[in-house]
Amino acid sequence: NPITIAIDGPSGSGKSSVSKAVARQLGLAYLDTGAMYRALTWWCLERGLDTTDVEAVAAQADTFPLVIGTEPDAATVHVGGTDIGAAIRQTRVSEQVSHIATNLQVRATMRDLQRQIIADARHAGAGIVVEGRDITTVIAPDAEHRFLLSASEEARLARRARELFDTDDDSALAATHDQIVRRDAADSTVSAFFEPAPGVVGIDTSDLTFDQSVAAVLDAVEA
Ligand code: C5P
Repeated sequence: NPITIAIDGPSGSGKSSVSKAVARQLGLAYLDTGAMYRALTWWCLERGLDTTDVEAVAAQADTFPLVIGTEPDAATVHVGGTDIGAAIRQTRVSEQVSHIATNLQVRATMRDLQRQIIADARHAGAGIVVEGRDITTVIAPDAEHRFLLSASEEARLARRARELFDTDDDSALAATHDQIVRRDAADSTVSAFFEPAPGVVGIDTSDLTFDQSVAAVLDAVEA
């Protein structure tokens, strides 16, 4: 029987790398829902749209030609044939994505798209690992397995600094702090991701290595 594994958490919780590894090990598809919000943000910025213009952004959400790859080793993001996998990680995208993500019409469109991708993966194969902010609560509350990854602010900052700057020295930490803390605050209206919802397994990864975090999820899935 196909399964859905829903994994929520803030940035720096290890969510993306853990989700991918779990999908790979279990032979499941993989969906990064944050990449979808980032893709729409990139698209709006390319068109010179004001990302706070609720109606204009919502109209783009309904029509922009997004194609998401769901192989854990080829989680590609294309719009209209252009590969934007790298572009969606740009700082300008990270800085604006919360405007897009707090747009309720955008969230409704993304919810439908995400549920369709989940249904397709369950139909075609063994199932899917879906990571984001509202997967355990809104997108797939009936998923067979649901996790909330968390980590101390210190651990999250260090991880993200190493990702962004290849170091966690003081200047990298300071630059990362700005980005992460601001985005968490901006996101807090759409996701209460610090408390697991009833039935959701919380995993604090602060003191876990990457392999231990993956094992914690796999153990719970296989239990
Ligand atoms: O996971 P990532 O940090 O790439 O997500 C980028 C942004 O997308 C988040 O800061 C949040 O604003 C939004 N997001 C969301 N709901 C999700 C996934 C991401 O609102 N399920």
